[in-house]
Amino acid sequence: MGFPPVPPTCVYQRSGIHDAALRRGYEACRRATRATGEIEYAVSLLLPPPLRTATWALYGAVRAVDDLADAPGSAGEADPGRAGRLEAWISAFDTDVREGRGSDPVRQALIHTMLTWNLPPGFLHTLFEELRQDVQGRQFTTWQEWRNYNRLINTPLMLRAGSLLLRAAGLSTEPEAIAASVPEAAVAWQTAVDAIYLTDALVDLSDDLDRGHVPLPQEALDEVGVRRTDLLARRATPEFEELVRRLADRARTWLNRTPLPPVLHPAVGVALGAYTDLYRLRLKAAADVPAALLHRRPALPRTARLRLLLPAQAKAALAWGLFPFPIQPCPPQLAPAQAPEGPGGAKETRSPAAQRHPAVPPPPHPSGARPPQLPGEAMPRHVAIVMDGNGRWATARGLPRTDGHRAGADALIDVVHGALEIGLKYLTVYAFSTENWKRPAGELHALMCEIPQGVRRMVDEKLDVRVRWAGARSRLPVDVIEELLEAERTTRDRTGMTLTLCVNYGGRAEITAAAAKIVQEAVAGKVDPGSISEHAFARYLHVPELPDVDLLLRTGGDQRTSNFLPWHATYAELLFLDTPWPDVDRRTLWDAIEQCAHRTRRYGSVPRIPAQHAPRGGQGAPAT
Ligand code: FPP
Repeated sequence: MGFPPVPPTCVYQRSGIHDAALRRGYEACRRATRATGEIEYAVSLLLPPPLRTATWALYGAVRAVDDLADAPGSAGEADPGRAGRLEAWISAFDTDVREGRGSDPVRQALIHTMLTWNLPPGFLHTLFEELRQDVQGRQFTTWQEWRNYNRLINTPLMLRAGSLLLRAAGLSTEPEAIAASVPEAAVAWQTAVDAIYLTDALVDLSDDLDRGHVPLPQEALDEVGVRRTDLLARRATPEFEELVRRLADRARTWLNRTPLPPVLHPAVGVALGAYTDLYRLRLKAAADVPAALLHRRPALPRTARLRLLLPAQAKAALAWGLFPFPIQPCPPQLAPAQAPEGPGGAKETRSPAAQRHPAVPPPPHPSGARPPQLPGEAMPRHVAIVMDGNGRWATARGLPRTDGHRAGADALIDVVHGALEIGLKYLTVYAFSTENWKRPAGELHALMCEIPQGVRRMVDEKLDVRVRWAGARSRLPVDVIEELLEAERTTRDRTGMTLTLCVNYGGRAEITAAAAKIVQEAVAGKVDPGSISEHAFARYLHVPELPDVDLLLRTGGDQRTSNFLPWHATYAELLFLDTPWPDVDRRTLWDAIEQCAHRTRRYGSVPRIPAQHAPRGGQGAPAT
């Protein structure tokens, strides 16, 4: 697979980017990357098309917004024009993210990439915050301040780039999670970013001086006796040459100290290695001509650059050829790019998803059965179901167990129709538990196909159902994760009922993960341990808004809850049916709800409390 010679149109084709307007946005980002990020562009060409276009979108968009903050103005002073343009861009971006579209070509490419790869917008907000301060004119007094800035502005971006590379390596783990569990990797990553940032500070010095900005800590200048005024006047004093020598030594030590993160895919290792080598080359180019740095950007020496890149290209092509790119991205449908309107650059409208897909009512049951009419207080708010018995249902019919799961998906769709008809607000189903990984590989494979297909069918029905996913990412194939996240995105404006799919779910793991997150935040000083109530704790669960379960139903004959929703189901009415799940339809759900309505729920007290007034968050002591 020779990546570099492929023309951009084929790259877009292979990345699933077919829309002409969207391609224009990606093209603008590609050109910006090529023009201003020589090293990033060269490394992007070592990546397969879907990752390459993502790199261009991220780099190009960040460059576009960074240019707004850096645009020539009154040197180093607050400039209301610049600040206004930056705010307009950020506010248009926020609107675009909310609406799942891009109101100018570059933002459209950026949002398309964020949705395709599920990149959270948080890292860009950190960047925006720092750029706001840049507009005011930024000076660093100490190395510590310089490092903090780097940590806020550059590291989050590098982490996103790392996240894309990890996905290329077939890992679905988020880089933050790796950083939290392997602190040495986080430190190594940070040191690499510091080295890159310091190298760029040297290389971009003349541009920064043009804007009246000195991108180095005062502490570094003081150490060698360089005066800011001399720098701004571009005086190449011996002290300045000493400063460059010291900074280059520092950056070189950091670069050499940085081990490559452990990656699974050899081509990712090649790309990261080339990136670091190109930076070493850039650093040498800067250190070789200290006085010239005051006047121009040093270019990468062409021959050395080619000597480095040609073998890297050959190695990357070989590695991608031997171990093909393992995942297909999941490009979303975006509303077309529009000309910006007003200061925010975008119109306030309803979500395009809601506009494009008005909800469709559920089809009636073929028998003509209608749901029972229950008084409001008797109606449970949240029903949770363990869909058991698929395998035995299939075996009893001489079919492979996997046919049972297919029939189970059909049963689920009918139950969802019935849940909407009876007016249930929350339905949660156990589709795959963390214990289910013990099943034979063939059955696991079938389930990993059946679940995303079922999710897609459900979303395609355009019901008034908001889909949520509860479960862990680890071990789940990336396409299953993408399908679940896409379902969450597409249906986020639906209000009729919330259907929570528990996929790769374990109740104890959910509670443990929530506890770990709280501890992390407490250690970081973001949460006061004294303020953790049950209600506050629930906010750290997979689906924070999920209410307590009123009725927990299990089909298939067994009478246990199997690590399903232990936090939410402490007061649930339990109902066990012998019927295997594939034989269930909406009428089974209605019957179960009626049975539940006749039970008395006491929550540890004496008088009957209607279901809708039940305590939430597991409150209420010694109970029955
Ligand atoms: C338990 O039955 C069932 C499962 C492990 C899978 C359930 C999955 C579906 C019904 C498909 C869901 C689809 C979507 C859209 C989420 P079992 O295999 O343990 O049956 P057994 O007890 O008879 O062996």
